[in-house]
Amino acid sequence: PPVSIFGVPTDVGAGARGASMGPEALRVARLAEALAARGVDVRDTGDVAGPKNPWLPPRDGYRHLDEVVAWNRAVFDASSAILAEGRMPLMLGGDHCLAVGSVAAVADHCRRNGKSLRVLWLDAHTDFNTSAITPSGNIHGMPVACLCGIGPEPLVRMGGHVPALVPDQVRQIGIRSVDQDEKRLVKEHGLDIYDMRYIDEVGMRQTMQQVLMGLDESTHLHVSFDVDILDPSIAPGTGTPIPGGVNYREAQLIMEMIADTGFLGSLDVVEVNPALDDRNSTAELAVDLVESLFGKSTLMRD
Ligand code: ARG
Ligand code: MN
Ligand code: MN
Ligand code: MN
Repeated sequence: PPVSIFGVPTDVGAGARGASMGPEALRVARLAEALAARGVDVRDTGDVAGPKNPWLPPRDGYRHLDEVVAWNRAVFDASSAILAEGRMPLMLGGDHCLAVGSVAAVADHCRRNGKSLRVLWLDAHTDFNTSAITPSGNIHGMPVACLCGIGPEPLVRMGGHVPALVPDQVRQIGIRSVDQDEKRLVKEHGLDIYDMRYIDEVGMRQTMQQVLMGLDESTHLHVSFDVDILDPSIAPGTGTPIPGGVNYREAQLIMEMIADTGFLGSLDVVEVNPALDDRNSTAELAVDLVESLFGKSTLMRD
């Protein structure tokens, strides 16, 4: 399907500045050109706009809630407009708080069109915190909870339908950092988590077979790709790096197996932080992996 790229240059939900430069770094790494070279009909619609990062301490357990809501509204609108045109939204973050808007738009679109949505959350973190339990107040640690109906009113209601998602629709892959109370919450809500220990024990192939089980022609796959799923040795340019991540070959296999389903419907690439990167290598690796997600094989020419 044709792809429309949009950038969301903000780090309002993060604990480090710099993810606001992510969209430009991905463009410099020639994301659109890489997809076009694969024969994908791709257009870059530019960046959406929003408030500046006020860089304040948390209030009532949230940092920058108003700004996070404003940016997510812009994301929801951009993503909804692209879906309505019959195109695939490819969001360039920005920090991961923006997935509230992108996933809410996709959930709304699926509801209107009789599609069943499955969200693949590729991340070191479960992002299932709430204002009561967050250690940081950073809202990029909360989007999955918000989408499942737990969080501040304006984020939980972003797409109209509450909750936007049920935990059953989510698969989390690469997880290795979950905060103390967050652990209790993800268990309570029954999130389907394929953590690094599981991947080490059963291998990535079998992990992805399980992740991708039960899909059919009516499935819309949304991939929310937080680059901190990758090991920091290959992806240093991100704000909350965690050791022990997915290696290059495992990451390629994740993308290739998703591509093979043919059901990819929308994509976020988030948490690329050029201020922390080594000569744009993290953005370049993300582009390499997105090529695989769109069917480029590491073994064959096509
Ligand atoms: N669990 C930590 C927190 O809530 C880190 C979250 C990191 N999230 C991310 N999307 N990088 O502050
Ligand atoms: Mn994340
Ligand atoms: Mn993360
Ligand atoms: Mn490549």
